[in-house]
Amino acid sequence: MDHFTSPRNVGEIEDASGVGTVGNAKCGDIMKIFLKIENDTVTDAKFKTFGCGAAVATSSMATELVKGKQVHDVLSVTNKAVMEALDGLPPEKVHCSCLAEEALQAALWDYSQKSNVHIEGLNPPSDTEHELEEDDE
Ligand code: FES
Repeated sequence: MDHFTSPRNVGEIEDASGVGTVGNAKCGDIMKIFLKIENDTVTDAKFKTFGCGAAVATSSMATELVKGKQVHDVLSVTNKAVMEALDGLPPEKVHCSCLAEEALQAALWDYSQKSNVHIEGLNPPSDTEHELEEDDE
């Protein structure tokens, strides 16, 4: 609730290293995550979410969790990790946390393409979306 009523890191990063925009097919909500990456470390993360309260809270928590992480550790910020950090979400809101993981990975992918960096275990956004759909069942 705290991350819903007082979301952290709302906004944009002008010179972002990677930007990920994803939409949730189930509800039509949209999330955009901006990452600033310097020396292989996430130095800043911001988001814009046009969606439900749970999507706002999960993007707020996801951006908090990735700040200060090394690039390869960002993949550990999964929808489960975000939900745990939020002390859980109602079952009908679990798909909202998938949006945060998807947006993070899309932003990482964007960074990896722009900076020509290989990130072990990172899939292109379309593959990620497919996996999340399966996870969601
Ligand atoms: Fe759409 Fe939560 S209902 S992201």
